[in-house]
Amino acid sequence: MEIKRAAVIGAGVMGSGIAAHIANTGVPVLLLDIVKPGAADRSALAKGAVERLLKADPAPFMHPKNARLVTPGNLDDDLGALSECDWIVEAIVEDPKLKADLYTRIDALRKDGSVVSSNTSTIPLAMLTQGQSERFKRDFLVTHFFNPPRYMRLLEIVAGPETRSDALAAVADFCDRRLGKGVVRCKDTPGFIANRIGVTWIQSAVNAAFDLGLTVEEADAVVGRPMGIPKTGVFGLMDLVGIDLMPHIAKSLLATLPEGDLYRRLHREFPVIQRMIADGYTGRKGKGGFYRLNREGGAKVK
Ligand code: NAI
Repeated sequence: MEIKRAAVIGAGVMGSGIAAHIANTGVPVLLLDIVKPGAADRSALAKGAVERLLKADPAPFMHPKNARLVTPGNLDDDLGALSECDWIVEAIVEDPKLKADLYTRIDALRKDGSVVSSNTSTIPLAMLTQGQSERFKRDFLVTHFFNPPRYMRLLEIVAGPETRSDALAAVADFCDRRLGKGVVRCKDTPGFIANRIGVTWIQSAVNAAFDLGLTVEEADAVVGRPMGIPKTGVFGLMDLVGIDLMPHIAKSLLATLPEGDLYRRLHREFPVIQRMIADGYTGRKGKGGFYRLNREGGAKVK
């Protein structure tokens, strides 16, 4: 199979970046999100995402000449256009029930031979395909991109026992040769490889910072460069990833990891983080995150 036209559903941090990177290869891509309640333009979320991709600082996530290849739309009016797409990437919120409902809608419209993949960070493929049609299971994969999708080389791919080998080969080949990713095949385990390791050390660092009463700068000086994340550190990484994603990741991992797993033993919730999410301090995509609040004196890691 050949990927000539793609769709990305979910125009948030990851979906918009994945759509931009697909467009950078010259492949037309449909970018869909929900209809924002009260918005005059029913496709405002996807259109706003395309504008942000071009303005991203220090470098745009998409070459301006490729912007015409991204067609923004919404899931109520434009879902029918999925019937023309060879590869459909799902990048909506990390919630298995919402993803399952969307897959049922997608499956009714997509053409035979198309492939659907999820950008889930943590949810096992077997859980995502539960209750879906046999055709869907044959055409489904996990393609876990890293943030930002244009620049991070790693891509984890998970195939299920039913996944067609030609679908797996086509997507892996496209991600490798066209998107320039280093593709790693993972087993179908919670958090796959990178997040199974990553969330454990993020949680260790957050616990230590709170227990020791460190500022975010102090914490990141200790656990940034030494842990191999020199640019952002752990708190900066959470600002980049989206602080609201963290409870979803924790919920998904706590539901699927085996008893006695190190992450289960380390996991703790911090009221300041829950307050930040409730107040819109979700990181770079929101009003700012740990670094902004810290400057404003509002979120000492204590
Ligand atoms: P986000 O919160 O930035 O974007 C999610 C988008 O989904 C929003 O635009 C929202 O309007 C839309 N949405 C919400 N409910 C929906 C529904 N029922 N149907 C369709 N769209 C809906 O989230 P983000 O960070 O882009 O994450 C998307 C997926 O990618 C998640 O599965 C997450 O675990 C995964 N991921 C996130 C990474 C990150 O660094 N943020 C890295 C790798 C994977």
